[in-house]
Amino acid sequence: MEKKRILAIETSCDETSAAVIEDGHTILSNIVASQIKSHQRFGGVVPEIASRHHVEQITLIIEDALKEAGVSYDDLDAVAVTEGPGLVGALLIGVNAAKAIAFAHDLPLIAVNHIKGHIFANQLVSTLSFPILSLVVSGGHTELIYMESEDSYEIIGETRDDAAGEAYDKIGRVLGVPYPGGKHIDQMAHEGKDTYHFPRAMIKDDTFDFSFSGLKSSFINTVHNAKQKDEEIHLNDLAASFQAAVIDVLVSKTIRAAKGKKVKQLVLAGGVAANKGLRTALQAAVSEELPEVEMLIPPLELCGDNAAMIGAAAYIQLKNNNFATYALNGRPGLTV
Ligand code: KG4
Ligand code: ZN
Repeated sequence: MEKKRILAIETSCDETSAAVIEDGHTILSNIVASQIKSHQRFGGVVPEIASRHHVEQITLIIEDALKEAGVSYDDLDAVAVTEGPGLVGALLIGVNAAKAIAFAHDLPLIAVNHIKGHIFANQLVSTLSFPILSLVVSGGHTELIYMESEDSYEIIGETRDDAAGEAYDKIGRVLGVPYPGGKHIDQMAHEGKDTYHFPRAMIKDDTFDFSFSGLKSSFINTVHNAKQKDEEIHLNDLAASFQAAVIDVLVSKTIRAAKGKKVKQLVLAGGVAANKGLRTALQAAVSEELPEVEMLIPPLELCGDNAAMIGAAAYIQLKNNNFATYALNGRPGLTV
């Protein structure tokens, strides 16, 4: 069968990205332009600035992606774009670029859910075998998603307040590390020890939901109290203690959910999947408690936001003739 090539576009947050993906698993190109430097001095992503950068970058990034892949519009079978969740102004830049390309080159348009994209990042390096349980951990999401097949999604647990990455970024401000804090805290954690013993919220309750705001408050109170009493603050130990609490909860709930669902594969996905401590702890727990389950973890460059993962997820929709119309809009609150 002839190979199917998808041009994929991702602009849901602070990365402008375009990729060309063949048959849902081979990356011909994956260009990612990060805007982090422009947002860093504000301590978080500023939506208006994100939209402006996307407008400036999108055409150039798409051209780069086609050039690096060595293809022209005539070689494409579809154009795919993230429709949500994300920042509405940022999503709209990608959606409108994709619509214009679809119209001008008479290509089918595919609307992709960003969360599904994170899961399908794994398809770019491994073969997915269902049923699968995915732990999706990013700046905006913490979800346990059960998939009976490649086109069925059931959220079996989610955060009741902050997302895991959001908690990392918020305590990153307290520790004085640049935005986004996750990567820096991960590094500091490896130099410290879990001496503060922060609470592990909801670790033993009978839902698969998560909560990270209590941990965040406990962390902030500990730092404030120590400052008021003029006590020495051990930054690396604080980072290690925070990370240990997050990982304990994520790993224990994920393993328990996977046991109940009898899955073939366990998938880690999203920006926080880059966390070294989490990767190691989850892999170790799976080897010990679920030796029959295969653990998939994306390489670091496919954990954060990128268009390749959108092209991988879009391939399922291309096979199923699941196309969008020109009425496609950005959907900031989209769920799986
Ligand atoms: O998936 P992503 O790129 O964007 C969203 O869809 O939200 O995830 C970004 C999040 C940020 O909160 C960032 O701090 C976190 O991923 N992150 C990490 C690490 N690398 C990125 N969190 C913990 N440890 C890391 N190594
Ligand atoms: Zn993301």
